[in-house]
Amino acid sequence: MLEVRNLKVSYDGVLAISDVSLKVGKGKLVALVGGNGNGKSTTLRAIAGLNACEAGQIHFQGAAIDKVPAHRRVPMGLSLVPEGRRLFARLTVERNLELGAYTRDDRAEVAASVEHIYSLFPILKERRRQLAGTMSGGEQQMLAIGRGMMSKPTLLLLDEPSWGIAPKFVTKVLDTIKMVNQQGVSVLLVEQSLHKALAIADYGYVIQTGRIVMEGAGQELLHNEDIKKAYLGL
Ligand SMILES: Nc1ncnc2c1ncn2[C@@H]1O[C@H](COP(=O)(O)OP(=O)(O)OP(=O)(O)O)[C@@H](O)[C@H]1O
Ligand SMILES: [Mg+2]
Repeated sequence: MLEVRNLKVSYDGVLAISDVSLKVGKGKLVALVGGNGNGKSTTLRAIAGLNACEAGQIHFQGAAIDKVPAHRRVPMGLSLVPEGRRLFARLTVERNLELGAYTRDDRAEVAASVEHIYSLFPILKERRRQLAGTMSGGEQQMLAIGRGMMSKPTLLLLDEPSWGIAPKFVTKVLDTIKMVNQQGVSVLLVEQSLHKALAIADYGYVIQTGRIVMEGAGQELLHNEDIKKAYLGL
């Protein structure tokens, strides 16, 4: 589904990621974990087309997409739920969802998609008329994921969905992500916390200073002592 090879991205000449290669198979939930400033968001943004790549290739569903602009990657099936959620705080829950379908012009089907999101996240239906900015962190994250699903992605890119959420709701958000994945959407999940992400992932990559330094099946990485010591300070 997605294959990234030797990706390199700089900001104003300063290298942010130097060598990132990873794959997400169809229907899989893959985690990319690492600490602050190691290049997780840069990688996701490059895949979504928001960062230009200096070197490397990105293949999505068999096609090279390196040169495809971000807004055209969305209808191809790529959807990014950005770091910090970036909701429209002063618009209602429903309006936020509708805006997630901005690349679609099939109004009746967009309404059906909103209903589908409500079936996945009943709390959003209850709060459909509430302003997004007045909801709890966990609810806002559900909305951000719901909005990301409104473009009917085949691959969802999630940037730290557990950010700013009370610990007791983190599990709920992760369960939701797993549920979305089980419905057939492939997921690339970025998290700082190895435990959170790998608990639900099929496969994981560890990124450190802009490079992939380790990869493996979720459970394998979770129990790898080297990772705990060297990369995650656990
Ligand atoms: N817009 C930008 N301009 C300049 N440098 C940037 C920019 N965004 C990120 N960087 C730098 O690129 C590197 C990677 O940052 P990135 O945001 O990808 O890390 P991250 O792993 O997502 O971190 P975090 O866990 O804090 O979100 C860092 O050194 C960061 O300072
Ligand atoms: Mg980040």
